[in-house]
Amino acid sequence: MKDGRGGKWKNAELVNGYSHYDDCMPHEKYSEWQRSCLKEMLRLIPDNGAIFYNHKWRVQDGLLQDRHDIVGELPIRQIIIWKRKGGINFNAGYFLPTYEVIYLIAKRDFKLLPKANALGDVWEFKQEMNNPHPAPFPVALINRIITSTDAQTILDPFMGSGTTAIAALMNNRKYLGIELSPDYVAMANERIKKYNNQLKINFVNQ
Ligand SMILES: C[S@@+](CC[C@H](N)C(=O)[O-])C[C@H]1O[C@@H](n2cnc3c(N)ncnc32)[C@H](O)[C@@H]1O
Repeated sequence: MKDGRGGKWKNAELVNGYSHYDDCMPHEKYSEWQRSCLKEMLRLIPDNGAIFYNHKWRVQDGLLQDRHDIVGELPIRQIIIWKRKGGINFNAGYFLPTYEVIYLIAKRDFKLLPKANALGDVWEFKQEMNNPHPAPFPVALINRIITSTDAQTILDPFMGSGTTAIAALMNNRKYLGIELSPDYVAMANERIKKYNNQLKINFVNQ
């Protein structure tokens, strides 16, 4: 991101990092942290629960980091490809990555809702461009995940701007969000308030 050649990503918000969190830490420390988060999540969810874990694959020191060191010991049932429009890569050593992966890490009794299976494992969603958070998910992507399961409570331990909360509200599910940055918590709360106010306006106008 700090390559400096610019192009259309020269002002990308992520160049400046997150507001209260710096993920620039030694690789092993970072993997260990992510592994411990996932293990705790697995402990918390019921026997029919699942984790949808998105983590970019990146080339570091010339080698692909496919995140096996993070997810390798977990019960991965499937890898879903999230096909984006374009991406960021200033490196002439490899092709521009245009997809990200979502690991479906599932407990024994996890099942999709009827018909969700037919959606396949390559999902095409444009990245979110109208959100001031540096790395937001598109609502449509989270909506796809939530509507594919009957989970009544959705936990997002890295809530950012509240995308998971919005998708959960859209589907009358409960949500729990955890977020380190007070700025992003404020962003998420504002978004949730707006969404709920809009619902009220629609209800009154019916
Ligand atoms: C990829 S972003 C999530 C964006 C979110 N999905 C959205 O649509 O806005 C990751 C988030 O994790 C937050 N974060 C980093 N470390 C954290 C921690 N230890 N606990 C809670 N949140 C953390 C960052 O502040 C950042 O907002």
